[in-house]
Amino acid sequence: MSPQIQWFPGHMAKAKREIQERMKLIDIVIELVDARAPFSSKNPMFDDVIKGKPRLIVLTKKDMANEQKTNQWIQYYESLNYQAMSVNLKKFNEYQKIIEKCRYILKEKMLKEQARGLKPRAIRAIVIGIPNVGKSTFINKLANRKATITGNRPGVTKSQQIIRVAKDFELFDTPGVLWPKFENIDIARNIALIGSIKQDILPLDELYIYAMQFLGENYPLLLKNRYQLDIHFEDDNWILHTFDHIAKIRKIKPLHGETDYDRVIELFFSEIYDGSLGRITWEDISCVKG
Ligand code: G4P
Repeated sequence: MSPQIQWFPGHMAKAKREIQERMKLIDIVIELVDARAPFSSKNPMFDDVIKGKPRLIVLTKKDMANEQKTNQWIQYYESLNYQAMSVNLKKFNEYQKIIEKCRYILKEKMLKEQARGLKPRAIRAIVIGIPNVGKSTFINKLANRKATITGNRPGVTKSQQIIRVAKDFELFDTPGVLWPKFENIDIARNIALIGSIKQDILPLDELYIYAMQFLGENYPLLLKNRYQLDIHFEDDNWILHTFDHIAKIRKIKPLHGETDYDRVIELFFSEIYDGSLGRITWEDISCVKG
């Protein structure tokens, strides 16, 4: 299979330049990745722009991901000498843990500055990440408002401001929006499965088969609980069986006498995206450890 994976070198360069311009103004980079795909939702192409600054990797949506796998991914990033943590940004005040961690990471630097006779000052941070990882949710909670001023677009918009969100904490009020990386088909699938790119970048029926096979192998109980579905991979028609079974269980009307495959796919993905299927992590650290 060769999906139409798009690549935007021009946009990527512009986004990099815009983030780079802000680097000298900040003390710490808060990089959000999605706990359901903590590797695929991170774009290492920005590493050279950010290098030299302390960086906190925050795995968001921990409430939607497998807890054990989230902990393994945190350990993985810590083993690469990053600071890492997970949060549920929808939970009341949990975002405060991110601020606390930033204070902890920068404590020594701030104390050193004061020892050199500099006036105490606020920590300044920027939030970066690919689409849909929770950047606006986090910034809006910090800024105590309903929506970010500007829309999502790669890089950092010119009209942005630095806002003070606590006595000792300042933040760029618009995030650095990174392009998702499309290095290979697995990464593209994972990004589609967490909703960070439009699913139609990949053929939906193929994404359905991939997701069903993954869940059948790794999370059979979730399929059982949600659809009373057992997958028998030894049956050549196992994928057709999943369509027929879900259509029956959910009373999806046949189309011209046949199972309405499109409606089954639509229902299945909507339940994956809203988390009603359960807590799923789409990639294991073995994908980076070989
Ligand atoms: P972005 O700026 O990085 O593009 O992401 P944004 O904040 O818009 O978040 C994308 C979606 O993810 C939002 O849902 C948001 O509520 C949800 N979200 C962010 N962090 C978490 C988290 O830790 N846990 C869970 N469960 N969801 C999270 P939405 O449906 O698009 O909007 P809304 O109806 O929730 O406002």
